[in-house]
Amino acid sequence: MRLYERQAAAATRGGWSVERDIRWRDIDRARARARPGILVGLRDAALIEAFHPVNLARLLRLMWDDVDGSAVFSLELYEGFKHFHALRLYLDAVGHEPAITDAEIVEMRRAGAAVDVASDGLIGRLVEFMLSEHLAAYFFRRLAEQAVEPVLIALLHYIAADEVRHAQNASDLIAKRIATDPAVIGGVLDAAAHFRHFGAEAIGAVPVALPGDPLAIRTFAKRIERLCGVRFVDYLKSGLAVRRTA
Ligand SMILES: [Fe+2]
Ligand SMILES: [Fe+2]
Repeated sequence: MRLYERQAAAATRGGWSVERDIRWRDIDRARARARPGILVGLRDAALIEAFHPVNLARLLRLMWDDVDGSAVFSLELYEGFKHFHALRLYLDAVGHEPAITDAEIVEMRRAGAAVDVASDGLIGRLVEFMLSEHLAAYFFRRLAEQAVEPVLIALLHYIAADEVRHAQNASDLIAKRIATDPAVIGGVLDAAAHFRHFGAEAIGAVPVALPGDPLAIRTFAKRIERLCGVRFVDYLKSGLAVRRTA
């Protein structure tokens, strides 16, 4: 079975509808507004999802010669759009201020749209993408644990499950590259050691799950170890992870 066939089937199994599966009319505005911190987190997340067209356009351009790769990013574009769409609808439904505007989205995309990515940066970008999706899953899961408004909790569970699948899709692409060229492993480890969430490019800071979330960190390292067959801590201690001045 082709890789993209398996990924497309998984996307269908995990599929949910913004219109049909979210009980928009049942939103409890008072309960939602009782947790303003969560709404701020949702707003940042919606903007990061709205950055996908800029980031994924670059990845798609670099991966036109990988049919599986272009499938992964096509799925991501669609499902990332769904996340943005649903989160913005939710924030509007509860009357969160300031409301997200199209002008704000375009402004947030502007700097990133001007940056091109060299083809030798592809593995680094793939690793960055995989780990961003991985942390996004934890971020949405943690938010679901803290939320008290039932419609939001259900929505966050759908989104978190999508992000787990997205991280796996990216991991499959990296594994495929390692299988044809084991020398890629060095680039994967290096990128993981210098990981920066792609959303940082969108909103400056990213509300990731990492700080104080040992499970997210452990599973982050696990993903790298599964791909590379090297213990990530050993790699970090080995001195091969050369410090970069950012
Ligand atoms: Fe997403
Ligand atoms: Fe995603």
